[in-house]
Amino acid sequence: MRELEELLSRLYQDGPGEVSEILAAFDDMVLAARAARPESLQYWDESRPPDWHVREDQVVYVAYTERLVAEVGEGAPLQRVRGRLDELQALGVTNLHLLPLFPTSGDGGFAIDDYRDVRADLGTPEDLRQLAADLHGRRMALSLDFVLNHTSDSHPWAVKARQGDPRYLDYFVVDETGEGAHWPGVPDIFPDFAPGHWDWVPELGQYLWATFYARQPDKDGPVRNDFAQWDLDYRNPDVLLDMVATLLHLVNQGVDCVRLDAIPFLWKQRGTSCTSQPPLHDVLRVIRLVVGEVAPRTVLLAEANDALPGLTQYFGTGPRWGGTCQLAYNFPLMPLLWYAVAFADAEPLMTMMTRMPQLPPGCTWLTFDEVHDEVSLEAVEAGFPGPQGVEVTRRLFDHFTSERRGLPFRFDPETEAFGHGISSNRWTMLGGEAAEAAGDPAGVEEALDKLVLLEALKASVGGTPLIYSGQEVGLETDWGYADDPVQAPDSRFAKRRNFPARALQRSLEEGTREARIRAHTTRILAARRQQPALAGSDAEVLATGRREVLAFRRRGRGGDPVVAAFNFSGAEVTVEVGEGTREDLFDGGTLGPEDAVVLGPRSFRWLREVRG
Ligand code: GLC
Repeated sequence: MRELEELLSRLYQDGPGEVSEILAAFDDMVLAARAARPESLQYWDESRPPDWHVREDQVVYVAYTERLVAEVGEGAPLQRVRGRLDELQALGVTNLHLLPLFPTSGDGGFAIDDYRDVRADLGTPEDLRQLAADLHGRRMALSLDFVLNHTSDSHPWAVKARQGDPRYLDYFVVDETGEGAHWPGVPDIFPDFAPGHWDWVPELGQYLWATFYARQPDKDGPVRNDFAQWDLDYRNPDVLLDMVATLLHLVNQGVDCVRLDAIPFLWKQRGTSCTSQPPLHDVLRVIRLVVGEVAPRTVLLAEANDALPGLTQYFGTGPRWGGTCQLAYNFPLMPLLWYAVAFADAEPLMTMMTRMPQLPPGCTWLTFDEVHDEVSLEAVEAGFPGPQGVEVTRRLFDHFTSERRGLPFRFDPETEAFGHGISSNRWTMLGGEAAEAAGDPAGVEEALDKLVLLEALKASVGGTPLIYSGQEVGLETDWGYADDPVQAPDSRFAKRRNFPARALQRSLEEGTREARIRAHTTRILAARRQQPALAGSDAEVLATGRREVLAFRRRGRGGDPVVAAFNFSGAEVTVEVGEGTREDLFDGGTLGPEDAVVLGPRSFRWLREVRG
């Protein structure tokens, strides 16, 4: 039996509709999408290596379109982005991820009203296609979000559902009991401003499932927000068909990497946690097969804030290992990068690195220290069961929410437990903003050292590094976000500020803090793309005998192995790592077979083990 048929049977044989009809609809959809794929994109598909996305040159840059160009250029924001590509390319960026740019009701664009249009204030669908073409001409990739778990409650399907149209009511998850009771084991994502997982819909007199934003979580409680994100019900095959058609449309606009937003929540089943349920992985496989038929070089990125080992399932399981998503954010590692630089303690990071499984060929992590969301601490507690996880989480939370380093996110006022995340920009989290405000040059230098360590970690520890827009100049946190009543409850908006023209300008003037950060970032990424050993995600942790020093060897795609060594402490250290003659990739110096590696305070070295 064809694999697609097998998957659809497994998902839908007990549901409404004949599997053969669903299969036929998929076949028609694929044929239509192939026919609609522009020739220029077919040529682009053929001109790229299948492993383009795991190579050592890859660097993802994440931005909100309107914020990236808020103060520069002329014309629609999507047109103005093209004016920033020279500079992004010079930084080393190869993949531009623009956060959702569709008509939206809120949640920073993640509550989508229409998946096939472009927000009028950003430009037109044609502007988007032009941007993709411009990127491709530079051999750069475009990433976009596919927010497939939910629509906004203003999406036409939601509007029809609210009017009681049974076809579209079936697109969403209705609480059959009518009581809106919390299903045990289901996580509460926004406990503070949208508690629970239901949204009371007065027009229907019913609760609909809303993992994220809800208007009125409780029928007897207040209206909390002016929009909701209603979860789609993938147990209905029409939902899968319509959403895959939407995805193919998106892919045919020139999208090279599809970020599958909030993917763990896709499949709801009473009696389970409704998170990362097995049928979801069948859905992912369907998506991968269909996308592969239409756009063979387009890859899927899982946004799954999960701990190991569950997270690796997003790369496929069993015979499908490597057959679903090709990329996934490395959520378990991320907070431990912060831990290492904040407390000069790489022990939890080393432990996590040794637990990272070897990923299937053609798959890799997206390695990040920050995105447009909070720095999530969830995977730490889950990753270190017992007191260590709680201790590491609490330390991170306390440190980064004190002394104006950041704001709590997901702080549950009911339990008064520590929060699960921190909202702040990196320069602020590192104490750079506070040190500058206090006129403390030593503090600024320390923050800068730590920033460089994070940048070098991201670029070498395994996976493709990600830059969140503004990091390259050390953009500060927007403490004024709460003046806007819509944003006030959601501290993540403190991270989402316009890129000031002044910061851009200063980053091009020698000697400024902005220019120094940009120069370090550029230098690190340039060194990375020369080393095939830094492709992919493998990393062999080397013993250093010290908690404050991390060392590992990378082999990547071959060539000479690279050993990276990081000293997170404020004192010089000497360690014995690496074998034979080693060339320093930054200063060009050479270490003989007997030489130890000296690491200055808060510094790192990348050493190529010269093999031939
Ligand atoms: C993802 C996005 C986040 C959004 C959520 C719901 O986690 O990154 O910004 O709030 O999904 O769409």
